[in-house]
Amino acid sequence: MNISTQERFQQLDQLLLRHWSAWQPAFGSDAKLWLTEATLTAIAHELGSATQLTSSPLLPIQSEPPAGTKLRKWRQLQHFKGCFNSSAETIVDWCCGMGHLSGHLASDRHAVIGLEIDSSLIARASARSSKMTLFHQCDVLSEAEQYLSSAQSIVALHACGALHTALVEKAVESQVHDLHFSPCCYHKRFNRGLKMLSQPARRSPLVLNERNIQLAVRQSVTAPKREQFAREKLRLYRLGFDEWVKRELGIEHYTHLPSTSPAIATKGFATFCAWGAKQRVPELSGVAVNDESRLLSSAEERLELEVAYEAQCEVFRRALEIRLCLDNVLFLEENGFQAELIEFCPSSITPRNIMIRAFRA
Ligand SMILES: C[S@@+](CC[C@H](N)C(=O)[O-])C[C@H]1O[C@@H](n2cnc3c(N)ncnc32)[C@H](O)[C@@H]1O
Repeated sequence: MNISTQERFQQLDQLLLRHWSAWQPAFGSDAKLWLTEATLTAIAHELGSATQLTSSPLLPIQSEPPAGTKLRKWRQLQHFKGCFNSSAETIVDWCCGMGHLSGHLASDRHAVIGLEIDSSLIARASARSSKMTLFHQCDVLSEAEQYLSSAQSIVALHACGALHTALVEKAVESQVHDLHFSPCCYHKRFNRGLKMLSQPARRSPLVLNERNIQLAVRQSVTAPKREQFAREKLRLYRLGFDEWVKRELGIEHYTHLPSTSPAIATKGFATFCAWGAKQRVPELSGVAVNDESRLLSSAEERLELEVAYEAQCEVFRRALEIRLCLDNVLFLEENGFQAELIEFCPSSITPRNIMIRAFRA
């Protein structure tokens, strides 16, 4: 069944609104709303075609990555290029990092300008550059205009939150020829709160913020086993810390700790609690952690529930992610572009596999 962008947006928006309470509870919260199997099946059925995107044709990717490029990145680049369909002579690679995508798209027909804020990445990109690539250190949030013109294509592979929102706004301002970008980390880098662009998203009663849209990226199917194990241990320690705080201070709410590297969990639970106390509960600084095994066994039971709850939320996760991307598509359409959402690669290569592709009409 063919549905318009507007219809798809409304369908997802309304479903997320109706089941609001089921996808809000964050990690550690006791206020989880469990849905029955029958309700979950009905939701999945209702979502139907609204969460199905056109996939790019599967490419037979056999070649080995060049030195310095990881296999997974290499596959992303090849799939991205397979969906790149621009006749513009110049491409701007937005937040180009080490310039992998720039190098991959540059050809005799396409010169590429890479923009990146991190000078060390610019140095690494420049060291590998060819005569068709040029890299500039640039904060795309405030300095990109000078590099943009209506004859260009803008590309971005995994530009986080505010960075891809700015990309869409600047593309419209500069009336560029076309855009091809894959968003990621929808919640990141908004200094002044989350920004919706399109009319329907701005009018929607669905309240989205940097906290609740984190659900859109809450899965890491492609992380290596070792990384997944380290992350789970960190989550276990977070819950164990919460158990400790509750027991010592008799408080009821979850004590949220700042994000940190999973490496901290390799130093043991007591060290983790000492770090956590310093961050959020100074009255427990210097207090010894007794009965570590009981705390961790309660934490394990809670972690099992978290995992089950995340599985339940999965039905809302893709709906939310597509709803966020549709805001960009609608805004581009409102401003004279023909825009679409596609899956540029299988999710086994990267779970952030959505591409927004738009051409000035
Ligand atoms: C997720 S990485 C993607 C890098 C690259 N596109 C790739 O796929 O390898 C996001 C990049 O955005 C860059 N970045 C962050 N804030 C930026 C800003 N304000 N202006 C330009 N680049 C920025 C980061 O340094 C990082 O290299």
